[in-house]
Amino acid sequence: MSWRACRRPPDNPTFRIFSLCTAVTSLLIQVVSGVDVTITSTVEEMAKQIAAPVDVLIVNAGYFPNIHETMTDGENPMNFEEELKQIDVCALGPLRSVYALHKAGKLAEGTLVIIISSQAGSAAWRFTQNKDNGGDYGHHMSRAACNIGGVLMSEELKKHGIPVVMLHPGFNRTDMTAKYSHIWDIEGAVEKEVGAKRVLYEVSQVDMAKTGQFINCEDGLQIPF
Ligand SMILES: NC(=O)c1ccc[n+]([C@@H]2O[C@H](COP(=O)([O-])OP(=O)(O)OC[C@H]3O[C@@H](n4cnc5c(N)ncnc54)[C@H](OP(=O)(O)O)[C@@H]3O)[C@@H](O)[C@H]2O)c1
Repeated sequence: MSWRACRRPPDNPTFRIFSLCTAVTSLLIQVVSGVDVTITSTVEEMAKQIAAPVDVLIVNAGYFPNIHETMTDGENPMNFEEELKQIDVCALGPLRSVYALHKAGKLAEGTLVIIISSQAGSAAWRFTQNKDNGGDYGHHMSRAACNIGGVLMSEELKKHGIPVVMLHPGFNRTDMTAKYSHIWDIEGAVEKEVGAKRVLYEVSQVDMAKTGQFINCEDGLQIPF
């Protein structure tokens, strides 16, 4: 049985999944709705409902509002309220989710914990991608905090045989990146189905040897923290 936790119930709880053969199949999955990763009680309630053990946990929730924060451009000021919300969703969200499931006894030796993070959280890459400009403080800080949370969880859960890996899903044509649609073609943003397959491929490669790593689903290579 596959489980999907989300805030709103989807219109149709039947999802198409790609199996290892060439055919496309449909599976009925169990949907747990009303889960907001910023509200601990809803995450704990989800953890109670899900059957143990979880084979693969993918924490996908993310938040990047349509703002561009800067220190020096008066038209694009800081927004500390949004910064805190991003940190709540993107950094504390994975921590709440993994903690709740572990506390509820739903994670076991061999469970793969996958956190969908972002290359935006790489401090090393900011010297290139944000060179001479900085900016987008809330989003990039939230993913750096997410990655540190993932590394700490990986160290703590190692003795339980549970790998924790952060994945950057690549540049995908989704609601989140609609504000960058003018560079989708230029920078090779892919359709969400392609991005999802890249993520699932990297999930299939995860084992204890990879715990604590931050991996780019575009090429399978590690991203420096
Ligand atoms: N798209 C990219 O190029 C890209 C690049 C790097 C990383 N990522 C990461 O990939 C993941 C998916 O991104 P996306 O592009 O598909 O973004 P999206 O279109 O904005 O979708 C974000 C998802 O997160 C859920 N979410 C947001 N806040 C939540 C909360 N408080 N509790 C529970 N769920 C919440 C949303 O649920 P609702 O539908 O209920 O709002 C939605 O399903 C995110 O973690 C994002 O940071 C994406």
